[in-house]
Amino acid sequence: MSIFKSYKPSICAGTALSLTLLSVAAQVRADSSASLSVPEGLHDSDYLYDGKPPQALFELGRNLFFDPILSGNRNISCGTCHDPARGTSDGVALSIGEGGIGFGPSRRTADGVIDRIPRNAQALWNIGAREYRSMFHDGRVEADPLSTFQSGYWTPAREHLPPGLDTILAAQAMFPVLSDLEMAGQKGENPVATAVTEDRVSDAWDHLAKRLGETPGYQEMFAAAFPDTDGITLVQAANALAAFQSQAFRSDDSPFDGFLSGEPMALSDAARAGAYLFYGKAGCVTCHSGALQTDHEFHAIAVPQIGPGKGHGSDTSYWRASGFGRHTEDEGRYRVTFEADDLFAFRTPSLRNVTLTGPWGHDGAFDDLEAMVRHHLDSVASLEAFDASAVPLPPLGSIIEQTAENSELIFRPLNGERRAAFDLRDRWVQSATALRSRIALANSLAPVALEDDEIAELMAFLDALTDPSARDRSDLVPQHVPSGLAPQPDPRRPRK
Ligand code: HEC
Ligand code: HEC
Repeated sequence: MSIFKSYKPSICAGTALSLTLLSVAAQVRADSSASLSVPEGLHDSDYLYDGKPPQALFELGRNLFFDPILSGNRNISCGTCHDPARGTSDGVALSIGEGGIGFGPSRRTADGVIDRIPRNAQALWNIGAREYRSMFHDGRVEADPLSTFQSGYWTPAREHLPPGLDTILAAQAMFPVLSDLEMAGQKGENPVATAVTEDRVSDAWDHLAKRLGETPGYQEMFAAAFPDTDGITLVQAANALAAFQSQAFRSDDSPFDGFLSGEPMALSDAARAGAYLFYGKAGCVTCHSGALQTDHEFHAIAVPQIGPGKGHGSDTSYWRASGFGRHTEDEGRYRVTFEADDLFAFRTPSLRNVTLTGPWGHDGAFDDLEAMVRHHLDSVASLEAFDASAVPLPPLGSIIEQTAENSELIFRPLNGERRAAFDLRDRWVQSATALRSRIALANSLAPVALEDDEIAELMAFLDALTDPSARDRSDLVPQHVPSGLAPQPDPRRPRK
């Protein structure tokens, strides 16, 4: 139950409190003359399946989400990076993907790790809202109204994405399993990874589907979820994953939701003042609009880059300095559209439960929410002043590198010298004036002047976007999954 609802009975209980209510109501009337234009609240119909996916589909998706069976080396699940006890993210700036051990900030490399994940693991709150038009920080999975491909979506898999994916959220679920760093692993380690590296993505999906089909528990769950079809496909698995996420990560019971449904007491005075700033002079609503505080558009706001980057850009300075043949920038939406306006632009994040989803920014550059908000006040100055060396990144133990010898692919740990050159990449862009300037030049966020007490009010408003039930949803993790592997993250101990 959320905080604001527990206010309700006491408001009606005594005279003193009724007086408080009267004065609040007066305040709200005064507020409305100052025209606080807030979005509509959320309803079942705003979510996929009208908020109620079929139970068998949900249960299948729930098991798949936490079962490492979908990773090439059977060593990581979706839940490892999207942990329901850590705000549906993992609490670190840049995750260690497959090959790591442990969860959250204590996760470390075990074996076979070649790099960090270049972007911050997105939180999944309300990801099943119908208003989502694209997936990922750069929106590279998106609905295709022109139906260029049989799938109905524009994605990196282009014509290879099969038809039958019910929603954009289902289309997204086809991709983490193909990423070598996230879930697939490296060529030669397993047939999924090898198929991906050889550009046979359909084979990679089919291989995973075959694995599921050979697992008795899944045979039953798929039969229950898809009673009219024979055989198991990864498209079905993706539809189930979407059904699960859409319901499990719905989160619309915050004090702000109470306020939207007409309960003035739901917001503290400070949070209400923050709402005025957010929807008024601070200009946040220009981009953070709608019930989820996102316009689903892409904006360049000069968030500093840390980490290895997405391999974008044409700069070769790191390559020359380190000997690692790699580009270091992350040009964001530009790499999807190749339109100059999209350089270094990222999708406006939803601010629902934002207090729980740090570190913040597309690469987790900010581990303090107030610092992230203050970045918006003068984004270019903030970029210039940013100290990338102070950003905590989970330490990487052993790192392997891929080399070819006698036409055979081998991996070996980096020696000390190569390792030092490798580590440079995490701060390369921020430390190179020319690369930093490209980010500054692309910035489209106008500076805004706010006093310290106004920042405090904005922070109170962001806090009021937190649904108390979102703090820990680890009860979603099943105790056992059909593969017999240990679910990830660790399930809660059963109550005695
Ligand atoms: C190794 C960590 C990791 C694993 C494992 C992982 N993800 Fe993610 N997830 C991420 C990162 C990082 C992003 C953002 C990537 C980007 O923008 O390029 C992301 C993005 C997403 C998004 C898009 C959210 C949005 O707002 O657009 C969804 C949905 C999602 N993941 C679901 C899943 C599912 C389902 C699985 C399992 C099949 C999974 N993830 C496995 C790290 C992970
Ligand atoms: C020009 C559009 C725009 C405006 C105006 C704007 N933001 Fe943002 N905001 C963004 C984008 C885009 C990001 C993500 C940037 C990135 O990761 O590179 C973001 C990120 C954030 C984040 C981090 C969320 C996360 O999950 O990482 C917070 C918090 C935030 N904004 C709050 C605010 C507040 C408060 C205001 C008003 C003072 C505001 N924003 C104004 C576009 C905007």
